[in-house]
Amino acid sequence: MNGSLFKLAPANEPERQYYFIEAASTLRAEKEKEIGRPITFHVTTFGCQMNARDSEKMTGILSQIGFDETDSEKDADIVLFNTCTIRDNANQKFYGHLGSLSGKNALKSGRIVIVCGCMVQEKECVERLKKSYGFVKIIFGTHNIYKLAELLCAHLDSGERIVDVWDKPGDIVEDIPSVRKYPFKSGVNIMFGCNNYCTYCIVPYVRGNERSREADEILRECAHLANDGVKEVMLLGQNVNSYGNNKEGFMTFPQLLKEVEKIDGIERIRFMTSHPKDLSDELIKVMKESAKICRHIHLPLQSGSTRILKAMNRRYTKEQYLELALRIRREIPDISITTDIIVGFPGETSEDVDETIDVIRKVRFDGAFTFVYSPRTGTPAAVMEGRPDEEWIRREFDRVLSAVQEESKAMAGRFLGRVESVLTEEINEKDEGYLTGRMGNNLMVHFPGDPSMIGKIVNVRLDECRGFYYMGEMV
Ligand code: SAH
Ligand code: SF4
Ligand code: F3S
Repeated sequence: MNGSLFKLAPANEPERQYYFIEAASTLRAEKEKEIGRPITFHVTTFGCQMNARDSEKMTGILSQIGFDETDSEKDADIVLFNTCTIRDNANQKFYGHLGSLSGKNALKSGRIVIVCGCMVQEKECVERLKKSYGFVKIIFGTHNIYKLAELLCAHLDSGERIVDVWDKPGDIVEDIPSVRKYPFKSGVNIMFGCNNYCTYCIVPYVRGNERSREADEILRECAHLANDGVKEVMLLGQNVNSYGNNKEGFMTFPQLLKEVEKIDGIERIRFMTSHPKDLSDELIKVMKESAKICRHIHLPLQSGSTRILKAMNRRYTKEQYLELALRIRREIPDISITTDIIVGFPGETSEDVDETIDVIRKVRFDGAFTFVYSPRTGTPAAVMEGRPDEEWIRREFDRVLSAVQEESKAMAGRFLGRVESVLTEEINEKDEGYLTGRMGNNLMVHFPGDPSMIGKIVNVRLDECRGFYYMGEMV
């Protein structure tokens, strides 16, 4: 191959990418003939649902080129890592893992290692990959994942390492192929990026400013998924409640939910994540009246101390959060409310943690992720004074965790004896003959059944609560 491949490429998207998918497919076929076996790939995904969805798109591109997906990262010819940089421990783990790949025998000759995603949007990461991980052949960020086939062609064409990281997002490119991890459920992006700039958070820097997708495109994708057998969609955005805020003529998030509800075949609707500051009365009303929207809301608290919330730039007070969460509980009594909490923010004291625990006790969260604050270079909090010491963090983290676990255990038990509609997701890992499914409120239940039930929505009686999950029986 030579540069002519690039000269002939169409300028418009997504046509350009389909052109490169074709070109890569031809190269793949030639190579497979030469080596006498299929070429395989493996995708490892870190981080949140957005990354999971991006990985489905990249898997779609690699599958359309004709590469074979394999479960084994160790044996794959193409190894792609879609990274997350939300907290530093994840980054360190990733470098460790990447390092282990370069060990003797681990790096097969001709193997293509690709690193993309949020970590790569940070300059230090690109420098480090370039300097210390020479075997990484393709490096790109979050804004151009749709160009995977083109970047792959560029690497195959030149044999050189390709680095393509954009500072800013380009246009939203629609109609890129994707392969779903589950046949019966799917994430659907409704917006990208974030404008909130919580002072601890790196997302706005690595994912760019907030952009909403056209409602028509979202509805078209949902209808297409429904046709393809999907029963549950999860609408994805860093702050779904501000959907359409940045554009004239866009519908609001609750209006969008109502439109998704109209699509035949979609039986369950979820969304992630809701910022408390933008959650409208209209949303509560639409949820309450809906037959399809799941009785679950993830409403990150971060801290229960108004002083810390202010320093975090969350733009609500403890009282406002409590009022909102308790109002949601009142309006939709069966709803499950889950949250995220950070411990160890600069300047945080035990009295601030007491306030957080007070909110945990009052809202009675059905579940919570508790994180130790991790300073992220370039964010305002990273240079704030007064970071608590490790021992304090360990102690206070345990206090928060105990409170969360006590409340969510008690809350999980409240559904005992009820019959709930359950989406069957998989065969139980520990006990063959049992299936595992998820209720609308996001709780898991294990019940006897055969694999033909996977992907179906069934009614299950909840017979026994074992802490955070149930044992049940189909009725
Ligand atoms: N957009 C979502 C959150 C996405 S990040 C929202 O605002 O709700 C997921 C969670 O990671 C956050 O809710 C927060 O609790 C946690 N997080 C983000 N940055 C962090 C940091 N620097 N240290 C520790 N936890 C962090
Ligand atoms: Fe980060 Fe805040 Fe945006 Fe969530 S809302 S992604 S925590 S900046
Ligand atoms: Fe991580 Fe990026 Fe998501 S930093 S949490 S993968 S947006």
